[in-house]
Amino acid sequence: MALPTNGTTADESRLDWNAARNLLAGLPGGGLNIAHEAVDRHVAEGAGGRRALISLGKRYERRVVTYAQLAESSSRVAGVLLGLGLQPGDTVAVLLDRSVELYQAAFGVWKAGGVFCPLFSAFGPGPLRSRLELSRAKVLIAGRSLYTRKVLPVRGNLPDLEHVLLVADEPDAAMGDHAGCRDFRALVVATAPAATVATTDKSPAFVHFTSGTTGTPKGAVHGHGAVLSHLVTGRQVFDLQADDIYWCTADPGWITNTACALILPLACGCTAMVDEAEFDPRRWYGILKEEKVTVWYTTPTNIRMMMRYGAALARTYRENSLRLAASVGEPLNPEAVTWGDKALGAPFLDTWWQTETGAIAIANPPGHGKPGSMGRPLPGVEAAVLTRSLSKVTVVDDPETVGELALKADLPSLFTAYVGDPGRYQAAFADGWYLTGDLVRRDADGYFWFVGRSDDMIKSAGHTIGPFEIECALMEHPAVAEIGVVGKPDLLLREVPVAFVSLNPGFEEGEALRLELLYFARQQLGSAIAPREIQFMDSMPKTTTGKILRRALKAKAVGEPDEDVVVPQGAHPGRFDDE
Ligand code: WT7
Repeated sequence: MALPTNGTTADESRLDWNAARNLLAGLPGGGLNIAHEAVDRHVAEGAGGRRALISLGKRYERRVVTYAQLAESSSRVAGVLLGLGLQPGDTVAVLLDRSVELYQAAFGVWKAGGVFCPLFSAFGPGPLRSRLELSRAKVLIAGRSLYTRKVLPVRGNLPDLEHVLLVADEPDAAMGDHAGCRDFRALVVATAPAATVATTDKSPAFVHFTSGTTGTPKGAVHGHGAVLSHLVTGRQVFDLQADDIYWCTADPGWITNTACALILPLACGCTAMVDEAEFDPRRWYGILKEEKVTVWYTTPTNIRMMMRYGAALARTYRENSLRLAASVGEPLNPEAVTWGDKALGAPFLDTWWQTETGAIAIANPPGHGKPGSMGRPLPGVEAAVLTRSLSKVTVVDDPETVGELALKADLPSLFTAYVGDPGRYQAAFADGWYLTGDLVRRDADGYFWFVGRSDDMIKSAGHTIGPFEIECALMEHPAVAEIGVVGKPDLLLREVPVAFVSLNPGFEEGEALRLELLYFARQQLGSAIAPREIQFMDSMPKTTTGKILRRALKAKAVGEPDEDVVVPQGAHPGRFDDE
């Protein structure tokens, strides 16, 4: 079946999802499983010798893994998990850096019928504990030192966690004894491959925690059926073919890694580039060039960091194999789009989606991008601008009107639940639309432009941070009486979290306490989400009902008087009333 491309005219925009299902192989005995579609299928079709992964360790240790090798090792992982008594729908949490083992673990969990729950390695013990608790993970597969530093201190609080499998930090290192844990690599070698469990498109496959304005993080669940969206978007957005080398730089723990680094490239049968190391401009330019990366997917923050190192460095890598570069996670400034063109020979195409949509929904078409815009809905995605009042939603047809972005709730990749919270799940839908919480406008050509969030989420380095999680962690400190956390604009990271704190009697404002609170927060929360700044307040600005007014704190963080803070009108009447 020929797929409609991400074209520029409305009549190209339909895609029949039922017909598109013919693109999937399905399990030999019936049913649908991500691991079969993304890995074993290619082996069955005779492409087992093709490279699935090119993986670089921190010191450039290079490992090439074929589809046949990944099929076998992930089946062994499934054997290990089934041997531990994993039942269909049980959660396996994974705390690993970008590595071959991450792929083995994810595809092994899917083959075993489990639910893959990746965790971000820059979280501290607090956020890891709450996610392990909420997901009720039965098994954890973790890097040894990550586990020792961050999970071991809270393991006593995790009664559901029955098994911990550790991956030694060095590929050949012996694991040694580690109380209550087993050696992942040794088990995988010693266990026979298991047959893939018969899952269906509705069976839960993975869960990612995204932050809410209030309450605990929300665990957005996706089913095996999401693989259809990844196969389709891989072709529509990136036009991925078997000979492409595709590099998605996202961190494990966030859906971009699961959907676009693990599933999407392999569903399309190409080679995924995997780099374990953290961002380093020379290293990244080197990988693009030496590994002959053809398609690159990264974040605006990473692009801005590369721009900082200047065009001269970039030009030494101008000879590369890139045919397409794209970004996601936060608005992409027009300068970054054109910089890509000048420095690397490929303009960056902005794409939009979120944890709940599960797959790319809006993207700039190659050759027809509008710098600064999120792009146009992909074929098969119906997007609208809505206004909400308490009881109903209204579609706004006039171009250039700001409202909430909504998607028709028929996408195969759309989340299927928030773990343990049906009420929150239902509240995200109205009249057949999924409500995204993003404020946008659509221009007369059908391109969408990001205006802001309708809630208090903070976006830092492409990661979504919920202020509430930071506030709860700092409330644990005896000095803190009240706290409000907001995002402060930052040229490189877009926003950084800043905490406004009022103190309990007996505590003195000052540099010593400020540093103590910053350190306390970092220990609890980890570098990914800890506030960068603490400001002391004598009293907190509050609503008449006594809730902390984040809008006023935001104005203070920006250094503006409150009335100058621009709040998009019309989209959320009453939003600040219930703050
Ligand atoms: C939120 C989703 C799956 C994507 C990675 C993060 C913001 C995402 C863009 C863009 C402006 C964007 C939105 C969205 N966002 N892409 N191209 N332009 N904003 O997933 O953590 O669920 O965050 O990121 O606000 O709702 P997430």
